[in-house]
Amino acid sequence: MMRPSLFATLLCFTLLGGNLADAQKAETFQLQNDNNLKAEITNYGGIITKIIVPDRNGNFADIALGYNSVAEYQKATPYFGAIIGRFGNRIANGSFKLEGKTYNLVKNNEPNGVACHLHGGTKGFDKVVWSAKRISKNGEKGLMLARRSPDGEEGYPGNLDVTVTYWLTNSNELRIEYAASTDKATPLNLTNHSYFNLKGEGNGTILDHILSINASRFTPVNQGLIPTGELAPVGNTPFDWRTPHSIGRDIDSKHQQIVYGLGHDHNFALDKSEPESLTLAATVYEPTSGRVMEVLTTEPGIQFYSGNFLDGSLTGKKEIPYERRSGFCLETQHFPDSPNQPSFPSAILHPGDEYTSTTIYRFSTQ
Ligand code: GLA
Repeated sequence: MMRPSLFATLLCFTLLGGNLADAQKAETFQLQNDNNLKAEITNYGGIITKIIVPDRNGNFADIALGYNSVAEYQKATPYFGAIIGRFGNRIANGSFKLEGKTYNLVKNNEPNGVACHLHGGTKGFDKVVWSAKRISKNGEKGLMLARRSPDGEEGYPGNLDVTVTYWLTNSNELRIEYAASTDKATPLNLTNHSYFNLKGEGNGTILDHILSINASRFTPVNQGLIPTGELAPVGNTPFDWRTPHSIGRDIDSKHQQIVYGLGHDHNFALDKSEPESLTLAATVYEPTSGRVMEVLTTEPGIQFYSGNFLDGSLTGKKEIPYERRSGFCLETQHFPDSPNQPSFPSAILHPGDEYTSTTIYRFSTQ
C-alpha cells in the first residue's frame, strides 16, 4: 500500500505523451518539504514543471509557468523552467575566439533583425534528457541531474561533465547547485529559465508585482540585445530597482534600452562585497497573495526578463493562454556575451578547474 508519507518524500512517475528521440525516458520527480511546498522537475531539459507554494492565508498555488506534458515542451517553449547551457543568454554573431581559435555557433535568435546565438543553441541543455538520481542530505530531499555534453556539441569545445542538483529545503528554498568540469577550455554559463507569476500561473500579468534588485549597475545592450561592454549606473533610469516598485511602472517607457528590450530584458551587475559569495540578488512581492520570492546567487549577474515575447499563443497548465508579460524570469548568470567582452568576469572553464554555482529561490509571505 502506498502510504501518504511516501508522497511526502519523493515521487517519480512517467510523463504521458513524450515522443523522445533520446534513448532515455523522460520522467518527472516531485520534491515535497515538511511545510508541504512542492516542486516538480522532469529530467527532459531539467525543467521545473511546478512550484507549489502558499499565499498569506495558507492557500497553495502553482507559481511556475509551463505545461502538463513533456510533449508540449518539445513542441514549443520559450525555455519554461529549463536548465540553460552551455551558455545562458546571447553570444554576438554566434562566434567567439578562445585560445587562438575561432568558434562558430548556430545563430538561433534574431532580436530586432540582428542574428546571434541564444541559450546554448538549437538543442541546448534544455532539450536533452538528463540522467536523474533522487538524493537526500540532512533530512532534505533533492534530485541530481547529470550528463556529459560531448566535445563539439552545438559547436562548443571539450567534453563537459555537468551536474545540476535541485533541493527543496525545509526553509522553503528551492536551491539549485551547478557543477561541471571539462577537458578543453569552454565558455560556460549555466542558469535556470523559470517563469514565475506569484499570483499563480495563468492568473494575468506580473505588472503589479513589486520588484527590487540589488544592483547599482546594469549592462546596456545594442539593438541586437548584445551588451555594449559598458557597466552603466542605474540611477535615474528605469533600471533602478534598489527601491522596490512595480514591474509595470516603467515598462512602456521611451528609454532607448526599454525600446530595444521591448520592455525589461536586461542583465544587472549585482552589488557584492565578495565576488562569488551567495548574496541576495532580487526580491519579488505580490500584494494580493502576499507571496514573496527572494533570489540569492553566487553569480555576478541576473537577467530580469518581463515576459515580453509571450503573446497568448502558448497555453499553460490551466488551459489558459499565456498573454504578454504573464510571467517574469530572474536568470542568475555571468554577463551576456562574456566570451567576447574582456572586461566582464570570465565565463571560461579550463581543464582541471571545477565550475560551481548556486542559486536559491526562497519563498515566504508578507
Ligand atoms: C531570455 C532573453 C530574452 C528571451 C528569453 C526567451 O530571457 O533575455 O530576450 O530570448 O530568454 O524568450
